[in-house]
Amino acid sequence: MPSLADRHGRSFPYLRLSLLEACNFRCGYCLPDGHRPLPGKPADLRLDEIGRLLRAFARLGMRKLRLTGGEPSLRRDLPEVIALAAAVPGIAKVAMTTNGELLARRIDAWRAAGLSHLNVSVDALDRARFAAITGRDRLPQILDGVERALTAGLRAVKLNAVLLRGLNDDQLPAFIGFVRERPLDVRFIELMRTGDNGDHFARHHVRATVLEAQLRERGWRPQPRAFDAGPSVDWGHPDYQGRIGIIAPYAPDFCAGCNRLRVTAGGDLRLCLFGETGIPLRPLLQSDDQAAELEATLVAQLGLKAASHALHEGRTGLVPHLASIGG
Ligand code: 5AD
Ligand code: SF4
Repeated sequence: MPSLADRHGRSFPYLRLSLLEACNFRCGYCLPDGHRPLPGKPADLRLDEIGRLLRAFARLGMRKLRLTGGEPSLRRDLPEVIALAAAVPGIAKVAMTTNGELLARRIDAWRAAGLSHLNVSVDALDRARFAAITGRDRLPQILDGVERALTAGLRAVKLNAVLLRGLNDDQLPAFIGFVRERPLDVRFIELMRTGDNGDHFARHHVRATVLEAQLRERGWRPQPRAFDAGPSVDWGHPDYQGRIGIIAPYAPDFCAGCNRLRVTAGGDLRLCLFGETGIPLRPLLQSDDQAAELEATLVAQLGLKAASHALHEGRTGLVPHLASIGG
């Protein structure tokens, strides 16, 4: 059976699918002026195209799907997309990353449709800081949504915080307090440079590893890594229910553990977040008869996947901002 593997000994059970580029937030590192639709942009994949895409990936060994954006909850047919994905044989986890604005209102519908894992982007637990970072004064509603998600029967709920010098790099104690009584993980993501965010990056980038000393001082310890672990190094503490994770994309061996592929909202395959290649899959998603050709194309593309991103050389690839590809 052909499967998704590359020349560097990696396999790819994890697909991140962007459902649309639009977002209603204005995070300073991503869409500081809000989302502006580009003229001539291809339409977002339709439900039938998504179905063919997911079935092909699943036949090649994809087991975990993450729906991203932009903001995936802005897609009107989101519950249908979730239900479609949850019904594909082989897909064991249907995850989503959201900014959480609609979470409190929609979580029950998403859960009923088959969502199993949820990540909510929460860059600060202080209301004013949150508003300054995201351009939206929505922290209370989002935290209400997080509480509901915790009791909705999902297999995991996580918070993502992009670490930003001068904006939220003093929030570690607040996040630690948050996970004391809540069984959720907070992940600090080191800011990545993209095509559009050079100034913001220069002002606010700080190595995520600065958090390690602070965690150690407070009695936190790195946890053993699972064989299928993602890019996060998770820290635990016996007195706390939740964990604190650190994602450091500039760490030397970061790419060695890569297990994921990406597809943009318009159906382009991206072998790497910061890759310089990406072929359109949409022409192969028009009929069920194309399944074999689609699978062969995916397998052949994987042969082109590079060992590592070139961010260290300042090359950000095709990505203007992560809303275009879903982080
Ligand atoms: N660097 C790091 N993380 C980013 N995200 C968006 N842009 C960047 C960036 N330049 C995060 C979002 C969200 C996830 C999908 O990616 O905050 O949590
Ligand atoms: Fe929207 Fe996410 Fe980008 Fe923030 S990081 S502007 S929530 S797509």
